[in-house]
Amino acid sequence: MLAATVEVLNAAAPLPFMLDDATSEDMRLRYRYLDIRRPQMQHRLRMRTRLVSALRHYLDARGFQDIETPILTKATPEGARDYLVPSRVHPGEFFALPQSPQLFKQLLMMAGMDRYYQIARCFRDEDLRADRQPEFTQLDMEFAFVEEHDVQAFVESMIREVFREVAGVELADPFPRMTYAEAMRRYGSDKPDLRIALELVDVAEHVRHVDFKVFSGPAADPDGRVAALRLPDGAALTRKQIDDLGPHVAKYGAKGLAWIRVDDLAKGREGLTSPIVKFLDDRAIDGIFDAVGARTGDVIFFGAGPQATVSAFMGALRLKLGQDLGLVEDAWKPLWVVDFPMFEFDAAADRYVALHHPFTAPKIDDVADLRANAGHAVSRGYDMVLNGNEIGGGSIRIHRTDMQSAVFDLLGIGAEEAQAKFGFLLDALKYGAPPHGGIAFGIDRIAALIAGTDSIRDVIAFPKTASAQCLLTSAPSPIADAQLQELHIRVAKPKT
Ligand code: AMO
Ligand code: AMP
Repeated sequence: MLAATVEVLNAAAPLPFMLDDATSEDMRLRYRYLDIRRPQMQHRLRMRTRLVSALRHYLDARGFQDIETPILTKATPEGARDYLVPSRVHPGEFFALPQSPQLFKQLLMMAGMDRYYQIARCFRDEDLRADRQPEFTQLDMEFAFVEEHDVQAFVESMIREVFREVAGVELADPFPRMTYAEAMRRYGSDKPDLRIALELVDVAEHVRHVDFKVFSGPAADPDGRVAALRLPDGAALTRKQIDDLGPHVAKYGAKGLAWIRVDDLAKGREGLTSPIVKFLDDRAIDGIFDAVGARTGDVIFFGAGPQATVSAFMGALRLKLGQDLGLVEDAWKPLWVVDFPMFEFDAAADRYVALHHPFTAPKIDDVADLRANAGHAVSRGYDMVLNGNEIGGGSIRIHRTDMQSAVFDLLGIGAEEAQAKFGFLLDALKYGAPPHGGIAFGIDRIAALIAGTDSIRDVIAFPKTASAQCLLTSAPSPIADAQLQELHIRVAKPKT
């Protein structure tokens, strides 16, 4: 049918940018309502609706209760800073926006609501990246009377089903499992992207004896690491391409990036190009080549230094090489990462910090054992990783007061502070708390993966910028003196 008449319901001013044009993200965010008119954004937001709806259906059909928890609440630590809300009626007192519903969902288990979920908004004042927003959405879940494998098996099936339905993707069954230690050793990351075949290999034992202190120092240090990464056919890289990797790994703490190019393996030393072979004897070179399986045409990269730093920058190198050289397999590679350390020692603060959150149970069940072995204790936490993204994280929780108090203590949270901050939890644990555990998924991250975009901003209708601002509404913004007064607040701006 053809239209016979046209009625103008409302005139449109000239648009600030053409909808089919590439324009800056700032412009897109400033005029988000126009940006969302674009078919691609329409498609992404509609897909997100289907994703959330599929998750809800899955859980509703299995007897889960969808329960809301407070937004105006007390701090729930998840490792970020809190967003605070001043109380007008209680001068000088503040609510914290929840970093997650963690404590309320645990209380629900103690309250007998033994299967809970919520599509929950979380708030974290932390450094933002493409996969982090100051407010974001979790599918938050908790189960009473479960062990790790119950939670993992259940949510794995859920994720498989939802990916099939929403993305037409068939994920592995079961997901592979990898310990944190293995992930760090082989991939330099606790969220390895298994689509990239490159792996790190430890070579400390082959360089411990050499004169080259850059290698022999960390090789002899129990907290050090010397790792090699073999790039097959890396000889095709230009010298400039290799040199350009230096600044990239420096961002992750690298002091340098040593390398050996294997022009011709049969020619021995003569067949190698490298700034460092002159520092290595034949025994070291043979040992390294054997360990990495060197072949003609390879470039082998080396990282040396403190363990955590080397893992971080060699892991970043692995990703960069994989992405830049087109070595990322077109596939979906989920896995579970398990056996995280319970604590990390923060040398600057001279105390332990929780790797997950302070409510995660240790594998050691005995308080005295835990105190004696805190540095090596493994937690009952688990992360679900997909294509190099942490899409979910959870744990079996502490359900005994004595263990919870001991963990607070090990984290440097004294009895008084624990009572002030978490007294309600310690109280609740006294009245017959069942064993329980759960997980939370990052809905934004899952949506971004399905949409095939690197940034979760692309699947959030009104996201914030990397500097935590809303360009559309110009928030945050100053408020009137009268309102400040009403809230009993005086502003002390930093001197710049
Ligand atoms: P965790 O802090 O690991 O665990 O968060 C769970 C999942 O939420 C997503 N996520 C984020 N997404 C976008 N922006 C952010 N700033 C952001 N931070 C986290 C990630 C992550 O895997 N209460 C625990 C869960 C539990 O133990 O059950 C928690 O919040 O995908
Ligand atoms: P230098 O002795 O600092 O001149 O370094 C010699 C070579 O080792 C250079 O190719 C550096 O890039 C490399 N290098 C320096 N520090 C490290 C490190 N921590 N890890 C890996 N390679 C390094």
